[in-house]
Order: sequence, then structure tokens, then C-alpha cells
Amino acid sequence: WPRSARRDDGALTIGGVDVRDLAGEYGTPLYVYDEDDFRSRCRDFKTAFSDGDVYYAGKAFLCTEVARWVAEEGLGLDVCSGGELAVALHAGFPADRITFHGNNKSVGELTRALDVGVGHIVLDSFEEIARLGYLAKEKNARPKVMIRVTTGVEAHTHEFIATAHDDQKFGFARETALEAARRVLALDELELAGLHSHIGSQIFDTDGFELAARRVVDLLVAIHDEHGVELPTLDLGGGYGIAYLDGEDPLDPKHIADNLSGIITRACRARDLAVPRLTVEPGRTIAGPGGITVYEVGTVKPLDGLRTYVSVDGGMSDNIRTALYGAEYTSVLASRRSEAAPMLSRLVGKHCESGDMVVRDLWLPEDLAPGDLVAVAATGAYCRSLANNYNHLLKPAAVAVRGGRSRLILRRETEDDLLRLEVSP
Ligand code: LLP
Repeated sequence: WPRSARRDDGALTIGGVDVRDLAGEYGTPLYVYDEDDFRSRCRDFKTAFSDGDVYYAGKAFLCTEVARWVAEEGLGLDVCSGGELAVALHAGFPADRITFHGNNKSVGELTRALDVGVGHIVLDSFEEIARLGYLAKEKNARPKVMIRVTTGVEAHTHEFIATAHDDQKFGFARETALEAARRVLALDELELAGLHSHIGSQIFDTDGFELAARRVVDLLVAIHDEHGVELPTLDLGGGYGIAYLDGEDPLDPKHIADNLSGIITRACRARDLAVPRLTVEPGRTIAGPGGITVYEVGTVKPLDGLRTYVSVDGGMSDNIRTALYGAEYTSVLASRRSEAAPMLSRLVGKHCESGDMVVRDLWLPEDLAPGDLVAVAATGAYCRSLANNYNHLLKPAAVAVRGGRSRLILRRETEDDLLRLEVSP
């Protein structure tokens, strides 16, 4: 739950605002962001990595307002598409504090990145090295680039969000990364600024991050030995796990920072190399815990001897993580207190398939009724950003709460938004 979550007269409040008032003013489903929670997590990372740089991974949740929070807290921004870049620029985010990622950036996207002068472009394939080199030469530009390395680390997380094992699409395997460095260094129009690694997401075990750091430093040393260059940046990506259920224990940013910078510093000093600046790119850890989703209950259907199906007014269009990754969430009755006995429940959406679950197994009070509000915790990351229009549902609004006040940061979609895409006469 967000750091400011309280139960005052029975209803849940976030940032000093009662969820019943939020539902009344903005409707449901509703994403609610505790702005102070988001900002304080930015600061926790910034303090922990005071000798390095922290880039917020915008894929977790991005809108103009959030880009502004990130800029004000002094973090950089990781974007991975022209769309994310457009939102960042629209927010006035300084281009030189943006890193541009992606395994298949288009010519248009790369051109825009060069035109606006993004700080770093992360190269993911041989084609991209040639493509960016060509574009940079044409524009007489010399962008700073990093090479994305897959370290062969098997991250302990869901298969779809592990990104550094051998059999996947990202980056250069260690053997080919040296060749990538050769090609980049051979092009005057690209400035090789560092190496990048991201092993996956929602990871609790520090071993994988440490192993990846060691392997990336080995490569840094190998590049030095071959070319005599000392690369100034080492970007180790994001991936730090957050608590979705009671008892899960998130990693402490300070602990991560100390471990990683210790590994890098020791390895470089042992070879008399300058220690590169450490960069990390947390997304979920910053946006996740401070966001909740508020839904209204529409139907309560007890199935004898099985469980009770509680249907809410959203579902897999506003949170696809349960269906896609088997993600687990915590949810509570948010609009009042209840002393009723707990009933085994499944919180489901309103989409036309049985996989449309928000929370697969949970206990809700037996007196739960249509009109009650339920809140799902830790939905700040990868829920709005993965939202879709399945069954032509409208994407919910997002609001920020702080100091007893709320304000809209993304408006709810309307049917007009859907119809605007139609090309009928
Ligand atoms: N840097 C890079 C290059 C990434 O690909 C990612 C996430 C991050 C940083 C941020 O990782 P985080 O700190 O948020 O774990 N949709 C999935 C998560 C996909 C993550 C993709 N890359 C989910 O809902 O669990």
C-alpha cells in the first residue's frame, strides 16, 4: 500500500483523500497515485546512488505529470519508444537526461532521438549500429551510445520478464558484444559511452544483479585491453522486486547500490582502470507501491462449495498482469469497515473470458455488496502502461493525491476517443 494509506472512519484514504470521494469525483475504475510516495522513492534511489545516476524507467507508468515529478526529483528518464519520447518531450523533460532503449527502434525514432539530442542511445543489434551510424553521419551528429549486453544470467522471475538468459531477443551475447564494440569504435560518428545490462524484472535475489555486474565489468576490461579505451558509464538496468503480498520483502536501494558499486570498483581498481559511473533504471520500484486501483463491485455470485465471484467494473483491460504473468495482488473492501466473516473470493473483471481475473484468490467479507468499492494494492507500475481497449472498454483515469487534495493526471477515455479512430463516412 502507498506510504500514506490509512483507515480513518472505516474507509481507505490515500494522501489524505477518502477513496469514496475519489470514486465520486472521478468515477471507477480509477488509478490513484500517492505523489509523495512516488517522489520519496525517487529520492531514496537518488540518495542511495549518490555517486551514480538513476533513470526512472518510463515503461512502468508515464504521463506528462509523472515526467515532471521525475525531472523535479533530479532523475533521468529511460524511454523505449517514440511514444514515450514524445510524452517526455511534451513534459519538457531535458533531452540530455533521456536514455533511449529498444530492440527495434525505427529510423523515424532514431532520427527524432538525434534531432532532439537524447543523452544516450542503447544499441541492441548490428543493424542498429550501422543504421544509427548512417543517420548520425548524415546529420553531422555524434550521439553517445551504450551497447546492451546479455549476460547469460537466469533471473528468478516469470519467463516473459527475464531478459538476460541466452535464448531471448535483447542485446548482444557476450561473445558478440566485443565485435559490437569494435564496430562502434570504428565509426567516428558514434561515441561509445558505456555498456548496458538489464536482467529482468520483479527480482528479489541479489545474486543475479551481482553476477551480471561482474560479467559486464569483465567485458569493460576486455574492451580496454583491446582498444585502450576506458568507458565512462555502466548501466545495470532495473528489475528490483516490490511487495505485492504481505510478507514479501523488497530490496533496499542502499543495499543494491553498495553491492553493485563495490563489485565494479574492486574489479576496476584491480586492473588500474578508472571506475565507470554506475547507472540504474528502476521502474516498478518507484511507481508500483504508491499506486492503487479502485473499482466498484457490480455483482457478487457465490458458487456453492467453490468460491464467490466478485465482479468489478474493469479487469484485464486495466490490469492484465494477473492474466499474463499469473501476478498476485492484495485487495480489500475500501469504502467501509466490515466485521463480517471472510469468504473465499475471486475478484474478476467484466471482459468476455474466464481468464479475466484481477485477483485470483482472496478473502473478502461475506456482506460485500454491489456498490462497495474495492482497492487493489501496488498497481502503480505496468497496469496503466499495459492498459488496452479489449471489448472496447475505456481506459480509466489516473489521479494524483497529496496533502488531502486530488487532481487528474490522465483523463478517462470516452466513447468519443474510441470513435475518433473510426474511418466510417
Ligand atoms: N531498463 C530496461 C532496459 C528495461 O527493459 C526495464 C523493464 C527496466 C529498466 C525497468 O525494470 P523494473 O525496474 O520496472 O523492473 N510488464 C512487465 C514488466 C516488464 C519490464 C520490462 N523492462 C510486468 O508487468 O511485470
